[in-house]
Amino acid sequence: MGKLSVFILLFTSYAAYSTWVYTNGTDRGTVMNAQQQAGKKIWQQYNCTSCHQIFGLGGYLGPELTTVISDKNRGETYARVFLQAGAVRMPNFHFTPEQINDIIAYLKYVDTNAFSYKHGNEQPTP
Ligand code: HEC
Repeated sequence: MGKLSVFILLFTSYAAYSTWVYTNGTDRGTVMNAQQQAGKKIWQQYNCTSCHQIFGLGGYLGPELTTVISDKNRGETYARVFLQAGAVRMPNFHFTPEQINDIIAYLKYVDTNAFSYKHGNEQPTP
């Protein structure tokens, strides 16, 4: 094989592999939609992180919320109650139903993307 064909072979393999990595290889539905983004904004504005952790980062006054939606003992309805009325130490922020839907959408996004959080280093099935 001539130098040129080796070059072309390597170049096309590299290009093909890069294309795969930057498209199907990493796309597992991890792009946030508008509602999830709105929820994330509320999360930031109200500084939920000061009391709650997501992916292990945040305050320790309130429970960790990474998997609150898929948790067998908690779940969406349970989370909504806290957002609607607050609790003993959890403040009542007087959210509108729309704001609550946005926050829940964001928490769902976090939960579905918590691969390594739930499974360690095991790879998700695409
Ligand atoms: C001042 C601290 C504080 C802030 C700020 C706060 N929370 Fe909480 N939150 C708590 C505490 C503490 C609890 C546990 C119930 C209790 O003791 O009141 C809780 C419970 C919850 C729960 C139920 C989860 C469970 O496992 O019990 C959800 C969902 C939740 N908070 C979401 C939020 C969101 C979203 C925000 C931001 C909009 C927020 N919290 C801001 C303190 C806080």
